Amino acid sequence: MVETRLPYGSQVLATGAHFPRKVMKNVEFESFVETSDEWIKSRTGIESRRIADPALGETTLTLSLEAARVALDRAGVRPDQLEFIVVGTVTPDTIMPSTATQLQALLGAPKAFAFDLSAACSGFLYGMSIADQYISAGRIGHALVIGAETLSTVINWRDRTTCVLFGDGAGAAVLGRTEGERRILSTRLYSDGQYGDLLSIPHGCSKVPVYSPEYRLDLAKIQMKGREIFKLAIRNMLDASASVLSDAGMTTADVDFFIFHQANIRIIDMCAKSLNVPPEKTWVNVDKYGNTSAATLPACLYEAQMAGKVKEGDTVLMATFGGGLTWGASLIRI
Ligand code: UT7
Repeated sequence: MVETRLPYGSQVLATGAHFPRKVMKNVEFESFVETSDEWIKSRTGIESRRIADPALGETTLTLSLEAARVALDRAGVRPDQLEFIVVGTVTPDTIMPSTATQLQALLGAPKAFAFDLSAACSGFLYGMSIADQYISAGRIGHALVIGAETLSTVINWRDRTTCVLFGDGAGAAVLGRTEGERRILSTRLYSDGQYGDLLSIPHGCSKVPVYSPEYRLDLAKIQMKGREIFKLAIRNMLDASASVLSDAGMTTADVDFFIFHQANIRIIDMCAKSLNVPPEKTWVNVDKYGNTSAATLPACLYEAQMAGKVKEGDTVLMATFGGGLTWGASLIRI
C-alpha cells in the first residue's frame, strides 16, 4: 500500500511505554525446558523479559493505560482532546469489548472512536498509519496509538523454540495535526497471507472454539517456524525501509536514527549492517524485554527519546515485521 501526501501532516507529539514489574531471567527457563541462558543470549540477544501478573492488575489494558498516560502527559494533550484510539494487539483483555474502547473509558476520552487492530508485531505501525490518514485528511486533530501485548498468556511454556522469545509490555504515541516539517514523512504497509502458517495461534477462536472436540490447548498458543520467519523478516524490513526512503527522496545517510522490530538481535544487526547503520544509531531493548510484538517500536522510540538519542527535528526510520504476515516501515521527522 502506498500513501500519498495530503494537505496536513501528523506529528508524533510524544511517546510512552510501560512494562510489567516481574522480571523473568533466562536462567529460570532452565528448570522446565531444555535450554540455557547461553543459548538464548547467543541466538537471540535476550537476557530477560517482563511477565504480566493479573493478580497485580497487569493486563494488556492496564499496560496500555500506563503507557498512554506517559505519552499524553509528555504531549500535553488531555484525553478529552483525543478523537481516535487504536490498540494494536493480538492479546486483548477480551475479544469484546475491545481493549481500545475499555481504554477510552478509563482515560475519559468521550470524543474518540476506538478499536483494536490485529496485525501482530506490525500493529503499532498499522495503527499509526491509520491515525496519520485521518489526521492528514483533516478529519481529526489528535490520536492515541498503542502497541500492547501480554504474549505470556499465549506462550506454550513447554515449547523451548518459542517460550524463551516473548515478553509483555506496551508502547504509546500521541499524534497531532501539523502543517510544519515535523511530521510522518512516509509509511508503507504490506501483508502476505500466504505465509500465515509461519506464525500463528490456530485454536481458540471461531475455527476451533474452546468447546470443540478438536480443541487443543497447545494449539491455542503461539506456533512459529522461526528459521523461515528470520529470513523473511530481514528481507522485508529492508525492502520496506528502501521504499519509504525512496518516497521521501532520502538515503540512509539522511536518517538520524533507526528502530527495527525487536525480535532477535541478529535480525536487528543484519538490518543495520545492510543499511550501513552504525550501532549508535539504533536502539535495542530486546535484551531487557524480549519480543513484545506491537509494543517494540513505540517503546524503543520512547526509550531513545528519553536517552537523548532521538531529538526534536531528527529523522527516524522504523521498520516492523510480524505474523500475518505483516510488515512495513515509516519515516518520521520527530
Ligand atoms: O516477531 C515476529 C517475528 N519473529 C521473528 O522474527 C523470529 C525470527 N526467528 C528467530 O529469531 C530465530 O529463528 C529463533 C530464535 C526462533 C531460532 O534461532 P535459530 O538460530 O534460527 O535456531 P533454529 O530454529 O535453527 O534451531 C537450532 C537448534 C535446533 O536444534 P536442532 O534441530 O539443530 O537439534 C532447535 O531445536 O536450536 C534448538 N533450539 C533451542 N535450543 C536451546 C531452539 N530453541 C532452543 C532453545 N534452547 N530455547
